[in-house]
Amino acid sequence: MNRQPLKILFVTSEVYPLIKTGGLADVSSGLPLALNASGHDVRIIIPAYKTALKNAGRTKIKLKTVGDSSIRLLEGKLPNSQVPIWFVDSPELYYRNGGPYGASNGIDWPDNAERFNTFNQVAYQIAANKLELDWQPDIVHCNDWQAGLVPAYLSIEKQRPATIFTIHNLAYLGLFPKQTFGQLSLNKKWWNYDKLEFHNNFSFLKGGLVYSDFINTVSPTYARQILTSEFGYGMEGLLAYRQNRLSGILNGIDEEHWNPETDKLITQNYNYETLSNKSQNKQALQKHFKLPVDAEKPIIGVIGRMVEQKGFDLIQNILPSIMQHNVQVVMLGSGDSLLETSLLSCMHQYPYNISIEIGYNESLAHLIEAGSDMFLMPSRFEPCGLNQFYSLKYGTVPIVNNTGGLADSVVDTYAETIENQTATGFKLFDATPEALLSAITRALTTFNSRDDWNQIIRNGMRQDFSWTSSAQHYVSLYHDAIKCQG
Ligand code: ADP
Ligand code: GLC
Repeated sequence: MNRQPLKILFVTSEVYPLIKTGGLADVSSGLPLALNASGHDVRIIIPAYKTALKNAGRTKIKLKTVGDSSIRLLEGKLPNSQVPIWFVDSPELYYRNGGPYGASNGIDWPDNAERFNTFNQVAYQIAANKLELDWQPDIVHCNDWQAGLVPAYLSIEKQRPATIFTIHNLAYLGLFPKQTFGQLSLNKKWWNYDKLEFHNNFSFLKGGLVYSDFINTVSPTYARQILTSEFGYGMEGLLAYRQNRLSGILNGIDEEHWNPETDKLITQNYNYETLSNKSQNKQALQKHFKLPVDAEKPIIGVIGRMVEQKGFDLIQNILPSIMQHNVQVVMLGSGDSLLETSLLSCMHQYPYNISIEIGYNESLAHLIEAGSDMFLMPSRFEPCGLNQFYSLKYGTVPIVNNTGGLADSVVDTYAETIENQTATGFKLFDATPEALLSAITRALTTFNSRDDWNQIIRNGMRQDFSWTSSAQHYVSLYHDAIKCQG
Protein backbone atom coordinates (compact mmCIF):
# COMPACT_ATOMS: atom_id res chain seq x y z
CA MET A 1 0.00 0.00 0.00
CA ASN A 2 1.29 3.41 -1.01
CA ARG A 3 1.42 5.71 2.00
CA GLN A 4 3.77 8.59 1.14
CA PRO A 5 2.80 12.08 2.41
CA LEU A 6 0.20 13.73 0.24
CA LYS A 7 -0.28 17.34 -0.77
CA ILE A 8 -3.91 18.18 -0.07
CA LEU A 9 -5.84 21.36 -0.87
CA PHE A 10 -8.84 21.52 1.49
CA VAL A 11 -11.53 23.78 0.02
CA THR A 12 -14.13 24.95 2.53
CA SER A 13 -16.36 27.91 3.27
CA GLU A 14 -15.93 27.71 7.08
CA VAL A 15 -13.15 26.79 9.44
CA TYR A 16 -13.08 26.92 13.23
CA PRO A 17 -11.98 29.20 14.96
CA LEU A 18 -11.98 31.74 12.14
CA ILE A 19 -15.54 31.46 10.89
CA LYS A 20 -18.27 29.03 11.94
CA THR A 21 -21.99 28.55 11.44
CA GLY A 22 -22.08 24.79 12.09
CA GLY A 23 -20.29 21.47 12.06
CA LEU A 24 -18.55 22.07 8.73
CA ALA A 25 -16.25 24.54 10.50
CA ASP A 26 -15.33 21.96 13.16
CA VAL A 27 -14.59 19.31 10.54
CA SER A 28 -12.58 21.79 8.47
CA SER A 29 -10.12 22.28 11.30
CA GLY A 30 -10.27 18.82 12.90
CA LEU A 31 -9.55 16.79 9.77
CA PRO A 32 -6.73 18.99 8.40
CA LEU A 33 -5.10 19.05 11.85
CA ALA A 34 -5.21 15.25 12.00
CA LEU A 35 -3.83 14.96 8.45
CA ASN A 36 -1.06 17.41 9.29
CA ALA A 37 -0.23 15.43 12.44
CA SER A 38 0.21 12.29 10.38
CA GLY A 39 2.69 14.02 8.09
CA HIS A 40 0.56 15.20 5.17
CA ASP A 41 0.99 18.63 3.63
CA VAL A 42 -2.54 20.00 3.89
CA ARG A 43 -3.50 23.59 3.09
CA ILE A 44 -6.91 25.09 3.69
CA ILE A 45 -8.48 27.68 1.43
CA ILE A 46 -11.43 29.88 2.48
CA PRO A 47 -12.92 33.21 1.37
CA ALA A 48 -11.41 36.21 3.21
CA TYR A 49 -14.54 37.13 5.17
CA LYS A 50 -14.18 40.13 7.46
CA THR A 51 -14.70 37.99 10.59
CA ALA A 52 -12.21 35.35 9.45
CA LEU A 53 -9.50 37.94 8.76
CA LYS A 54 -10.11 39.55 12.12
CA ASN A 55 -9.94 36.21 13.95
CA ALA A 56 -6.79 35.21 12.06
CA GLY A 57 -4.90 38.10 13.65
CA ARG A 58 -1.90 39.79 12.15
CA THR A 59 -0.07 36.81 10.76
CA LYS A 60 -1.28 37.08 7.16
CA ILE A 61 1.02 37.84 4.28
CA LYS A 62 0.13 38.61 0.70
CA LEU A 63 1.05 35.69 -1.49
CA LYS A 64 -0.26 36.61 -4.93
CA THR A 65 -2.43 38.90 -6.92
CA VAL A 66 -4.68 36.73 -9.04
CA GLY A 67 -4.20 37.75 -12.66
CA ASP A 68 -4.48 41.51 -13.01
CA SER A 69 -7.64 41.57 -10.93
CA SER A 70 -8.45 42.95 -7.52
CA ILE A 71 -8.30 39.46 -6.02
CA ARG A 72 -5.38 38.65 -3.77
CA LEU A 73 -4.36 35.47 -2.07
CA LEU A 74 -3.31 35.91 1.56
CA GLU A 75 -1.54 33.31 3.63
CA GLY A 76 -1.77 32.67 7.36
CA LYS A 77 -1.79 29.70 9.73
CA LEU A 78 -4.74 27.97 11.30
CA PRO A 79 -4.42 29.34 14.89
CA ASN A 80 -2.22 27.26 17.19
CA SER A 81 -1.07 25.02 14.38
CA GLN A 82 1.31 24.72 11.48
CA VAL A 83 -1.48 24.24 8.94
CA PRO A 84 -1.30 26.96 6.24
CA ILE A 85 -4.53 28.69 5.41
CA TRP A 86 -5.10 30.67 2.25
CA PHE A 87 -7.66 33.46 2.10
CA VAL A 88 -9.19 34.47 -1.21
CA ASP A 89 -9.31 38.20 -0.69
CA SER A 90 -11.76 40.22 -2.72
CA PRO A 91 -13.07 42.94 -0.36
CA GLU A 92 -16.02 43.71 -2.59
CA LEU A 93 -17.23 40.09 -2.31
CA TYR A 94 -16.24 38.98 1.17
CA TYR A 95 -15.34 41.90 3.43
CA ARG A 96 -18.76 42.54 4.96
CA ASN A 97 -20.45 42.65 8.31
CA GLY A 98 -22.73 39.64 8.78
CA GLY A 99 -22.33 35.91 8.18
CA PRO A 100 -20.54 33.96 5.47
CA TYR A 101 -23.75 33.30 3.53
CA GLY A 102 -26.02 36.17 4.49
CA ALA A 103 -26.61 39.35 6.41
CA SER A 104 -27.36 39.32 10.13
CA ASN A 105 -31.09 39.40 9.35
CA GLY A 106 -30.69 35.85 7.96
CA ILE A 107 -31.27 36.79 4.33
CA ASP A 108 -28.76 35.29 1.88
CA TRP A 109 -26.34 37.64 0.16
CA PRO A 110 -27.83 38.32 -3.29
CA ASP A 111 -24.45 37.76 -4.97
CA ASN A 112 -23.67 34.36 -3.38
CA ALA A 113 -23.30 32.69 -6.79
CA GLU A 114 -20.65 35.21 -7.79
CA ARG A 115 -18.98 35.09 -4.38
CA PHE A 116 -18.57 31.32 -4.37
CA ASN A 117 -17.84 31.07 -8.08
CA THR A 118 -14.90 33.44 -7.61
CA PHE A 119 -13.75 31.44 -4.59
CA ASN A 120 -13.98 28.21 -6.63
CA GLN A 121 -12.12 29.72 -9.57
CA VAL A 122 -9.17 30.70 -7.40
CA ALA A 123 -9.08 27.26 -5.73
CA TYR A 124 -9.16 25.73 -9.21
CA GLN A 125 -6.31 27.95 -10.42
CA ILE A 126 -4.16 26.87 -7.48
CA ALA A 127 -5.04 23.22 -8.03
CA ALA A 128 -4.23 23.43 -11.73
CA ASN A 129 -0.95 25.20 -10.91
CA LYS A 130 -1.93 28.31 -12.80
CA LEU A 131 -0.91 30.69 -10.03
CA GLU A 132 2.66 29.37 -9.96
CA LEU A 133 2.74 29.01 -6.19
CA ASP A 134 5.41 26.38 -6.40
CA TRP A 135 2.96 23.98 -4.81
CA GLN A 136 0.44 21.78 -6.56
CA PRO A 137 -1.82 19.42 -4.64
CA ASP A 138 -2.11 15.69 -5.31
CA ILE A 139 -5.65 15.86 -4.10
CA VAL A 140 -8.30 18.57 -3.88
CA HIS A 141 -10.82 17.93 -1.12
CA CYS A 142 -13.98 19.99 -1.73
CA ASN A 143 -16.70 20.42 0.89
CA ASP A 144 -20.40 21.12 0.33
CA TRP A 145 -21.99 23.23 -2.40
CA GLN A 146 -19.77 26.23 -1.74
CA ALA A 147 -16.87 24.24 -3.26
CA GLY A 148 -18.87 22.27 -5.83
CA LEU A 149 -17.60 23.99 -8.97
CA VAL A 150 -13.95 23.20 -8.29
CA PRO A 151 -14.18 19.60 -9.61
CA ALA A 152 -16.15 20.91 -12.60
CA TYR A 153 -13.47 23.49 -13.46
CA LEU A 154 -10.72 20.92 -12.96
CA SER A 155 -12.44 18.40 -15.23
CA ILE A 156 -11.36 20.39 -18.29
CA GLU A 157 -7.67 20.06 -17.41
CA LYS A 158 -5.66 17.24 -18.99
CA GLN A 159 -3.24 17.04 -16.08
CA ARG A 160 -5.09 17.57 -12.86
CA PRO A 161 -5.01 16.52 -9.23
CA ALA A 162 -7.56 13.96 -8.04
CA THR A 163 -10.76 15.33 -6.49
CA ILE A 164 -12.92 14.31 -3.55
CA PHE A 165 -16.27 15.90 -2.80
CA THR A 166 -17.69 15.60 0.72
CA ILE A 167 -21.42 16.08 1.27
CA HIS A 168 -21.97 17.53 4.74
CA ASN A 169 -25.60 18.30 4.06
CA LEU A 170 -27.51 17.45 0.90
CA ALA A 171 -30.35 19.79 1.89
CA TYR A 172 -28.27 22.70 0.59
CA LEU A 173 -27.89 22.27 -3.16
CA GLY A 174 -26.46 25.71 -3.94
CA LEU A 175 -29.24 26.43 -6.44
CA PHE A 176 -29.30 29.54 -8.64
CA PRO A 177 -31.39 30.59 -11.64
CA LYS A 178 -30.53 30.21 -15.32
CA GLN A 179 -29.93 33.93 -15.65
CA THR A 180 -27.14 33.74 -13.06
CA PHE A 181 -25.58 30.86 -15.02
CA GLY A 182 -25.31 33.24 -17.97
CA GLN A 183 -24.04 36.13 -15.87
CA LEU A 184 -21.22 34.00 -14.47
CA SER A 185 -20.28 32.93 -18.02
CA LEU A 186 -20.12 29.30 -16.94
CA ASN A 187 -19.24 26.63 -19.50
CA LYS A 188 -22.35 26.27 -21.69
CA LYS A 189 -21.93 22.48 -21.79
CA TRP A 190 -22.69 22.43 -18.07
CA TRP A 191 -26.27 23.50 -18.76
CA ASN A 192 -27.52 19.97 -19.09
CA TYR A 193 -29.53 17.70 -16.81
CA ASP A 194 -26.59 15.30 -16.49
CA LYS A 195 -24.23 18.17 -15.60
CA LEU A 196 -25.09 21.24 -13.47
CA GLU A 197 -28.65 21.94 -14.58
CA PHE A 198 -31.33 21.00 -12.03
CA HIS A 199 -34.99 21.61 -12.88
CA ASN A 200 -34.21 24.76 -14.85
CA ASN A 201 -31.87 26.09 -12.17
CA PHE A 202 -28.27 25.10 -11.72
CA SER A 203 -26.68 23.55 -8.67
CA PHE A 204 -23.14 24.15 -7.41
CA LEU A 205 -23.37 20.90 -5.45
CA LYS A 206 -24.08 18.95 -8.61
CA GLY A 207 -20.67 20.05 -9.89
CA GLY A 208 -19.15 18.05 -7.04
CA LEU A 209 -21.43 15.06 -7.54
CA VAL A 210 -20.89 14.83 -11.30
CA TYR A 211 -17.22 15.72 -11.66
CA SER A 212 -15.34 14.60 -8.55
CA ASP A 213 -13.40 11.35 -8.64
CA PHE A 214 -14.94 10.18 -5.38
CA ILE A 215 -17.88 11.39 -3.33
CA ASN A 216 -18.27 10.78 0.34
CA THR A 217 -20.55 11.85 3.10
CA VAL A 218 -20.04 12.12 6.81
CA SER A 219 -21.54 8.85 8.05
CA PRO A 220 -22.14 5.39 6.57
CA THR A 221 -25.89 5.52 7.34
CA TYR A 222 -26.37 8.90 5.62
CA ALA A 223 -24.41 7.55 2.60
CA ARG A 224 -27.16 4.92 2.25
CA GLN A 225 -30.04 7.26 3.07
CA ILE A 226 -29.19 9.77 0.33
CA LEU A 227 -29.85 7.08 -2.25
CA THR A 228 -33.56 7.31 -1.38
CA SER A 229 -36.07 9.95 -2.45
CA GLU A 230 -36.79 10.72 1.21
CA PHE A 231 -33.27 12.03 1.84
CA GLY A 232 -31.85 12.53 -1.67
CA TYR A 233 -33.27 16.00 -2.44
CA GLY A 234 -33.67 14.98 -6.06
CA MET A 235 -30.03 13.87 -6.34
CA GLU A 236 -30.75 10.21 -5.48
CA GLY A 237 -30.65 9.10 -9.14
CA LEU A 238 -27.31 10.73 -9.79
CA LEU A 239 -25.93 9.37 -6.53
CA ALA A 240 -27.14 5.88 -7.40
CA TYR A 241 -25.40 6.22 -10.77
CA ARG A 242 -22.17 7.08 -8.93
CA GLN A 243 -22.74 4.60 -6.13
CA ASN A 244 -19.48 2.73 -6.71
CA ARG A 245 -17.70 6.03 -6.01
CA LEU A 246 -19.77 6.94 -2.94
CA SER A 247 -18.91 6.11 0.67
CA GLY A 248 -19.52 7.29 4.22
CA ILE A 249 -16.81 8.25 6.73
CA LEU A 250 -17.94 9.18 10.21
CA ASN A 251 -16.64 12.54 11.45
CA GLY A 252 -14.31 12.70 14.42
CA ILE A 253 -14.00 15.46 17.00
CA ASP A 254 -11.14 17.74 17.92
CA GLU A 255 -10.26 16.33 21.31
CA GLU A 256 -7.98 19.27 22.11
CA HIS A 257 -10.94 21.59 21.96
CA TRP A 258 -13.72 19.29 23.18
CA ASN A 259 -12.34 17.52 26.20
CA PRO A 260 -13.85 17.89 29.69
CA GLU A 261 -10.45 17.22 31.22
CA THR A 262 -8.84 20.31 29.70
CA ASP A 263 -11.71 22.49 28.44
CA LYS A 264 -11.03 26.10 29.49
CA LEU A 265 -14.58 27.19 28.70
CA ILE A 266 -16.20 25.17 31.49
CA THR A 267 -16.33 25.82 35.22
CA GLN A 268 -14.67 22.65 36.50
CA ASN A 269 -12.67 20.08 34.56
CA TYR A 270 -13.40 16.40 35.06
CA ASN A 271 -12.87 13.01 33.53
CA TYR A 272 -14.07 9.45 33.73
CA GLU A 273 -12.63 9.09 37.22
CA THR A 274 -13.60 12.49 38.64
CA LEU A 275 -17.15 12.52 37.32
CA SER A 276 -18.51 14.04 40.52
CA ASN A 277 -16.84 17.34 39.50
CA LYS A 278 -19.34 17.56 36.66
CA SER A 279 -21.88 18.82 39.22
CA GLN A 280 -20.09 22.17 39.49
CA ASN A 281 -20.76 22.73 35.82
CA LYS A 282 -24.40 21.86 36.39
CA GLN A 283 -24.61 24.46 39.09
CA ALA A 284 -22.93 27.09 36.88
CA LEU A 285 -25.31 26.21 34.06
CA GLN A 286 -28.38 26.60 36.27
CA LYS A 287 -27.07 29.96 37.45
CA HIS A 288 -26.32 31.10 33.90
CA PHE A 289 -29.82 30.24 32.77
CA LYS A 290 -31.38 31.69 35.94
CA LEU A 291 -32.97 28.39 36.90
CA PRO A 292 -33.22 27.11 40.49
CA VAL A 293 -29.93 25.47 41.53
CA ASP A 294 -30.77 21.86 42.24
CA ALA A 295 -28.21 19.07 41.94
CA GLU A 296 -30.85 16.33 41.83
CA LYS A 297 -33.06 17.68 39.08
CA PRO A 298 -32.10 16.34 35.64
CA ILE A 299 -31.18 18.98 33.07
CA ILE A 300 -31.81 18.37 29.38
CA GLY A 301 -29.58 20.46 27.09
CA VAL A 302 -30.23 21.41 23.47
CA ILE A 303 -27.93 23.32 21.09
CA GLY A 304 -28.31 23.87 17.39
CA ARG A 305 -29.52 25.70 14.36
CA MET A 306 -33.25 26.21 14.85
CA VAL A 307 -34.31 24.73 11.52
CA GLU A 308 -36.68 21.95 10.50
CA GLN A 309 -33.80 19.47 10.14
CA LYS A 310 -33.01 19.61 13.85
CA GLY A 311 -36.53 18.83 15.09
CA PHE A 312 -36.91 21.86 17.37
CA ASP A 313 -40.62 21.87 16.54
CA LEU A 314 -40.88 18.33 17.96
CA ILE A 315 -39.23 19.52 21.14
CA GLN A 316 -41.59 22.46 21.37
CA ASN A 317 -44.53 20.11 20.91
CA ILE A 318 -43.59 17.92 23.87
CA LEU A 319 -42.29 20.59 26.27
CA PRO A 320 -45.60 20.85 28.18
CA SER A 321 -45.66 17.04 28.60
CA ILE A 322 -42.13 16.80 29.93
CA MET A 323 -42.93 19.56 32.39
CA GLN A 324 -44.99 16.85 34.16
CA HIS A 325 -41.63 15.41 35.17
CA ASN A 326 -39.28 17.13 37.52
CA VAL A 327 -36.82 18.43 34.88
CA GLN A 328 -35.11 21.55 33.60
CA VAL A 329 -34.52 22.27 29.92
CA VAL A 330 -31.84 24.66 28.62
CA MET A 331 -31.59 25.61 24.96
CA LEU A 332 -29.14 27.57 22.84
CA GLY A 333 -29.66 28.32 19.17
CA SER A 334 -30.99 30.57 16.52
CA GLY A 335 -32.64 30.25 13.14
CA ASP A 336 -36.26 30.20 12.08
CA SER A 337 -37.83 33.25 13.71
CA LEU A 338 -41.26 31.62 14.15
CA LEU A 339 -39.66 28.73 16.01
CA GLU A 340 -37.60 31.11 18.11
CA THR A 341 -40.74 33.03 19.10
CA SER A 342 -42.82 29.99 19.97
CA LEU A 343 -40.00 28.42 21.99
CA LEU A 344 -39.57 31.66 23.91
CA SER A 345 -43.26 31.72 24.72
CA CYS A 346 -42.96 28.19 26.20
CA MET A 347 -40.13 29.51 28.34
CA HIS A 348 -42.33 32.30 29.68
CA GLN A 349 -44.94 29.69 30.62
CA TYR A 350 -42.46 27.62 32.64
CA PRO A 351 -39.89 30.15 33.91
CA TYR A 352 -38.53 27.81 36.63
CA ASN A 353 -37.99 24.88 34.31
CA ILE A 354 -37.21 26.12 30.82
CA SER A 355 -34.60 28.64 29.81
CA ILE A 356 -33.62 29.57 26.28
CA GLU A 357 -30.85 31.72 24.86
CA ILE A 358 -31.28 32.83 21.28
CA GLY A 359 -27.98 33.43 19.52
CA TYR A 360 -24.60 31.89 18.92
CA ASN A 361 -22.36 31.39 21.93
CA GLU A 362 -19.36 29.05 21.68
CA SER A 363 -18.44 29.03 25.38
CA LEU A 364 -22.03 28.52 26.51
CA ALA A 365 -22.20 25.53 24.15
CA HIS A 366 -19.30 23.99 26.09
CA LEU A 367 -20.95 24.70 29.45
CA ILE A 368 -24.22 23.12 28.27
CA GLU A 369 -22.34 19.97 27.25
CA ALA A 370 -20.54 19.87 30.60
CA GLY A 371 -23.43 20.83 32.88
CA SER A 372 -26.40 18.96 31.41
CA ASP A 373 -27.39 15.40 32.31
CA MET A 374 -28.98 14.64 28.93
CA PHE A 375 -28.68 16.13 25.46
CA LEU A 376 -31.47 16.17 22.92
CA MET A 377 -31.03 15.72 19.14
CA PRO A 378 -34.32 14.65 17.56
CA SER A 379 -33.08 15.57 14.06
CA ARG A 380 -35.27 14.53 11.13
CA PHE A 381 -32.06 13.81 9.28
CA GLU A 382 -28.48 14.26 10.42
CA PRO A 383 -25.59 13.64 8.00
CA CYS A 384 -23.31 13.14 11.00
CA GLY A 385 -23.93 15.54 13.87
CA LEU A 386 -21.19 16.54 16.28
CA ASN A 387 -23.03 17.40 19.46
CA GLN A 388 -23.81 13.75 20.22
CA PHE A 389 -20.05 13.06 20.21
CA TYR A 390 -19.40 16.05 22.46
CA SER A 391 -22.19 14.85 24.77
CA LEU A 392 -20.79 11.31 24.98
CA LYS A 393 -17.34 12.69 25.69
CA TYR A 394 -18.71 15.02 28.42
CA GLY A 395 -20.75 12.31 30.18
CA THR A 396 -24.03 13.86 29.05
CA VAL A 397 -26.33 11.14 27.82
CA PRO A 398 -27.62 11.79 24.27
CA ILE A 399 -31.24 11.24 23.27
CA VAL A 400 -31.23 11.05 19.46
CA ASN A 401 -33.31 10.12 16.47
CA ASN A 402 -31.95 6.98 14.82
CA THR A 403 -30.86 8.65 11.59
CA GLY A 404 -27.58 9.36 9.76
CA GLY A 405 -24.55 9.77 11.98
CA LEU A 406 -26.72 9.68 15.10
CA ALA A 407 -27.66 6.09 14.24
CA ASP A 408 -23.97 5.26 13.76
CA SER A 409 -22.66 6.80 16.96
CA VAL A 410 -25.18 6.15 19.76
CA VAL A 411 -26.18 2.77 21.17
CA ASP A 412 -29.71 2.61 22.54
CA THR A 413 -30.33 1.53 26.14
CA TYR A 414 -32.22 -1.68 26.79
CA ALA A 415 -31.72 -4.73 29.02
CA GLU A 416 -29.11 -6.35 26.78
CA THR A 417 -27.03 -3.21 26.14
CA ILE A 418 -27.05 -2.37 29.84
CA GLU A 419 -25.95 -5.92 30.55
CA ASN A 420 -23.12 -5.95 28.00
CA GLN A 421 -22.11 -2.35 28.82
CA THR A 422 -22.56 -0.97 25.33
CA ALA A 423 -25.53 1.35 25.98
CA THR A 424 -24.57 5.00 25.48
CA GLY A 425 -27.86 6.84 24.98
CA PHE A 426 -31.54 6.71 24.10
CA LYS A 427 -32.99 6.53 20.62
CA LEU A 428 -36.27 7.35 19.00
CA PHE A 429 -37.01 5.45 15.80
CA ASP A 430 -39.47 7.88 14.31
CA ALA A 431 -39.25 11.69 14.19
CA THR A 432 -42.58 12.25 15.94
CA PRO A 433 -43.49 14.03 19.18
CA GLU A 434 -44.79 10.72 20.63
CA ALA A 435 -41.54 8.85 19.92
CA LEU A 436 -39.51 11.74 21.32
CA LEU A 437 -41.57 11.88 24.48
CA SER A 438 -41.25 8.14 24.97
CA ALA A 439 -37.43 8.24 24.56
CA ILE A 440 -37.15 11.13 27.04
CA THR A 441 -39.40 9.29 29.50
CA ARG A 442 -37.21 6.19 29.22
CA ALA A 443 -34.14 8.33 29.88
CA LEU A 444 -35.73 10.03 32.90
CA THR A 445 -36.71 6.66 34.36
CA THR A 446 -33.19 5.30 33.92
CA PHE A 447 -31.76 8.51 35.45
CA ASN A 448 -33.31 7.37 38.72
CA SER A 449 -31.44 4.03 38.60
CA ARG A 450 -28.14 5.62 39.45
CA ASP A 451 -25.93 2.55 38.85
CA ASP A 452 -27.29 2.00 35.36
CA TRP A 453 -27.10 5.72 34.59
CA ASN A 454 -23.47 6.00 35.66
CA GLN A 455 -22.62 2.94 33.63
CA ILE A 456 -24.21 4.48 30.52
CA ILE A 457 -22.20 7.66 31.10
CA ARG A 458 -18.99 5.70 31.44
CA ASN A 459 -19.69 3.57 28.35
CA GLY A 460 -19.91 6.80 26.34
CA MET A 461 -16.93 8.56 27.91
CA ARG A 462 -14.51 5.76 27.28
CA GLN A 463 -15.02 5.74 23.52
CA ASP A 464 -12.51 7.12 21.06
CA PHE A 465 -13.92 9.82 18.81
CA SER A 466 -10.63 11.39 17.81
CA TRP A 467 -10.04 12.25 14.17
CA THR A 468 -7.13 9.82 13.95
CA SER A 469 -9.04 6.85 12.59
CA SER A 470 -11.43 8.85 10.36
CA ALA A 471 -8.43 10.75 8.94
CA GLN A 472 -6.90 7.41 7.97
CA HIS A 473 -10.06 6.53 6.07
CA TYR A 474 -9.79 9.84 4.21
CA VAL A 475 -6.16 9.10 3.34
CA SER A 476 -7.23 5.74 1.87
CA LEU A 477 -9.93 7.50 -0.12
CA TYR A 478 -7.39 10.07 -1.38
CA HIS A 479 -5.15 7.22 -2.56
CA ASP A 480 -8.09 5.51 -4.28
CA ALA A 481 -8.91 8.76 -6.07
CA ILE A 482 -5.32 9.29 -7.16
CA LYS A 483 -5.12 5.69 -8.40
CA CYS A 484 -8.31 5.81 -10.43
CA GLN A 485 -7.55 9.24 -11.85
CA GLY A 486 -3.89 8.64 -12.71
P1 ADP B 1 -24.86 21.34 11.85
O1 ADP B 1 -23.53 21.47 11.19
O2 ADP B 1 -25.88 20.69 11.01
O3 ADP B 1 -25.35 22.64 12.41
P2 ADP B 1 -23.45 19.69 13.82
O4 ADP B 1 -23.97 18.93 14.99
O5 ADP B 1 -22.59 18.95 12.88
O6 ADP B 1 -24.70 20.35 13.10
O7 ADP B 1 -22.55 20.88 14.32
C1 ADP B 1 -23.04 21.99 14.97
C2 ADP B 1 -21.88 22.72 15.62
O8 ADP B 1 -22.23 24.07 15.80
C3 ADP B 1 -21.53 22.17 16.98
O9 ADP B 1 -20.16 22.41 17.24
C4 ADP B 1 -22.42 23.03 17.89
O10 ADP B 1 -21.96 23.09 19.21
C5 ADP B 1 -22.33 24.36 17.20
N1 ADP B 1 -23.47 25.23 17.40
C6 ADP B 1 -24.68 25.18 16.77
N2 ADP B 1 -25.47 26.18 17.18
C7 ADP B 1 -24.76 26.88 18.09
C8 ADP B 1 -25.02 28.03 18.89
N3 ADP B 1 -26.19 28.65 18.83
N4 ADP B 1 -24.04 28.48 19.70
C9 ADP B 1 -22.85 27.84 19.77
N5 ADP B 1 -22.55 26.75 19.05
C10 ADP B 1 -23.48 26.27 18.23
C1 GLC C 1 -23.61 19.40 8.33
C2 GLC C 1 -24.55 18.39 8.91
C3 GLC C 1 -24.07 17.77 10.19
C4 GLC C 1 -22.61 17.41 10.11
C5 GLC C 1 -21.79 18.62 9.71
C6 GLC C 1 -20.30 18.34 9.59
O1 GLC C 1 -23.84 20.69 8.71
O2 GLC C 1 -25.85 18.93 9.09
O3 GLC C 1 -24.83 16.60 10.45
O4 GLC C 1 -22.14 16.94 11.35
O5 GLC C 1 -22.23 19.07 8.46
O6 GLC C 1 -20.01 17.28 8.71
